[in-house]
Amino acid sequence: MSSQGTPQRVRNDAGPPGSPDQTTECQSPATPDRATSPDAMKAAQKEVQNVLKDLSLIVDPNEPMLNLTRDQLDNMPVLDSIMKEAMRLSSASLNIRVAKEDFLLHLDNQEAYRIRKDDVIALYPPMLHYDPEIYEDPYEYKFDRFLNEKGQEKTTFYRNGRRLHYFYMPFGSGVTKCPGRFFAVYEIKQFLTLMLSYFDMELLESAIRVPPLDQSRAGLGILQPTYDVDFRYKRKQNH
Ligand code: HEM
Repeated sequence: MSSQGTPQRVRNDAGPPGSPDQTTECQSPATPDRATSPDAMKAAQKEVQNVLKDLSLIVDPNEPMLNLTRDQLDNMPVLDSIMKEAMRLSSASLNIRVAKEDFLLHLDNQEAYRIRKDDVIALYPPMLHYDPEIYEDPYEYKFDRFLNEKGQEKTTFYRNGRRLHYFYMPFGSGVTKCPGRFFAVYEIKQFLTLMLSYFDMELLESAIRVPPLDQSRAGLGILQPTYDVDFRYKRKQNH
């Protein structure tokens, strides 16, 4: 995007990130997987149980109140990875920036673009999130993709042999990076902790496949599924 016509590309082999040919590829997931991930469920349940055990918290259906501190919420790498993987696959928020001055934007592939003051530049995170060099089998949901061999947060991702600073951008970047991201993640973790502690869950259709994402809101946030995946839940009995 530009305020004064198209920015001038200095080298000229391929389209810039986000050009239509590349986004199309990135928005056409292969055949979706089944909607269940038993390994993810098992790992999440184990992590939640361990956190509650360490706190000597009793899950009591008659007293459904669990108090988790910020430290405990910060120490749930499995839930973090599960959520990150879901957002890697579904986030499509354009990062929009306006150039304050003329400059040369260098890309990894040796291309460079002359950006002029007031040009509007939009970065599209799925270009990173679906890059097979960064994420092997990028259309596959792997709940432990963001865990290292020690089961802690993985932060080492590479492209062209270079370690990446930006490999995960559902919350944007720089000074305008979402200030609500910690709140959002804590809320989701608390919800998951309660659901995993108090309820048994089951898909209505056990063989249902992951719905393709509705691309009509691409650029505007997290993409919605094209159909619902219904599940039933009931309160656990044995505590
Ligand atoms: C999973 C949930 C959320 C996602 C995926 C999300 C994503 C984003 C993204 C992509 C941006 C633009 C970042 C950029 O331009 O670089 C943003 C900005 C922002 N978000 Fe969030 N957000 C979430 C939850 C929240 C919550 C819960 C709050 C408030 C409690 C919040 C408040 C804001 C604000 C105020 C900005 C503007 C920041 C600025 O321009 O300086 N967000 N968010």
